[in-house]
Amino acid sequence: MQKYFSDFRSDTVSKPSLAMREAMRMADVGDDDYGDDPTVKELEEKMAALLGKPSALFLPSGTQSNLIAILTHCQRGEELITGKGYHVYAWEGGGASALGGVVVNPLMTDERGSINLDELKISIKTGSGHEPPSKLLSLENTYCGMVQPIEALKMLTQIAREHNLSTHLDGARLANAVAKTNNSFAEYGSMFDSISICLSKGLGAPVGSVLVGGPNFIDRARRQRKQLGGGMRQSGILAAAALYAIENNVSRLSEDHQNAIYLAQELEKNSLFQVRNNLIDTNIVYADIQPDIADAMHLHISSNQLKVNFPEPVIINDKIWFRFRFVMHLDINKEDIEKLTASINSFEC
Ligand SMILES: Cc1ncc(COP(=O)(O)O)c(C=O)c1O
Repeated sequence: MQKYFSDFRSDTVSKPSLAMREAMRMADVGDDDYGDDPTVKELEEKMAALLGKPSALFLPSGTQSNLIAILTHCQRGEELITGKGYHVYAWEGGGASALGGVVVNPLMTDERGSINLDELKISIKTGSGHEPPSKLLSLENTYCGMVQPIEALKMLTQIAREHNLSTHLDGARLANAVAKTNNSFAEYGSMFDSISICLSKGLGAPVGSVLVGGPNFIDRARRQRKQLGGGMRQSGILAAAALYAIENNVSRLSEDHQNAIYLAQELEKNSLFQVRNNLIDTNIVYADIQPDIADAMHLHISSNQLKVNFPEPVIINDKIWFRFRFVMHLDINKEDIEKLTASINSFEC
């Protein structure tokens, strides 16, 4: 397969490898909406076991996985507490409110995505009087590539439980946290009522997320999936790719993490960039430049068979900077990184 672009926009852009395509080709399939696709069943059983949960459900996307988790945990008019920058609040089109009438309470986090324990405690509403009752705490790990400390997750979910809230983890990139920390998937599983895990990010499958939880929860989630049009037929073809991803691509994530460190070190040599090392834990590199060169730098990089997102404005010490986000994945190697840094270093103001 010939490659024209080195694409640093996201780990969702990687293409299925030949071995993954072969696994898809050979997949045994059936009609999953009738419950008889053996490969989907195998994937669901495997993911449930990995996370230490009784049940699992295969879904087309991470957004649908999170949405269905929220709609299953919350009724209309009930409150979801989450973080302001978390995907379920910031990047999923307001689906939980639009489709489920769920009231979302986004708490401020620090720049590494942590919610303050006291902030959570004082935000939980009992629903007495005029308040929408808090029903669900939804956290995220990794958050923008940053690993959330397991102790902090334990304390936050403990507080939620003490107040009878359910707990959900958006674990789109939980595998990156596992690869980085050596905490097991099951350790995370033991803290949350439900977890969504994407197979189509760093793990490299073309499509798919799995939601894990208890049997009643997953039965209700399955019904929600049908209502949202997410029931699939011979989806074993996709589940085969997901199985391949979870069986082969978790431990190699540390290569992506090493590549992120390599890119950060190379960028540090260029005085136009302020590398934000405090935000780089796994596969995402953040580096800031002055606003007056943001457009020109983006254009310059993009004209060299490289794809990068436009940098986003951020405020640091009362000053606006523009932040580039470079994402490492299966289709990025050292050569791609060198191509990127060579392009950056050839930029003239
Ligand atoms: C943290 C997080 N959660 C959920 C999602 C949604 O996944 P999808 O794009 O498959 O809907 C993403 C997508 O990038 C994500 O980064």
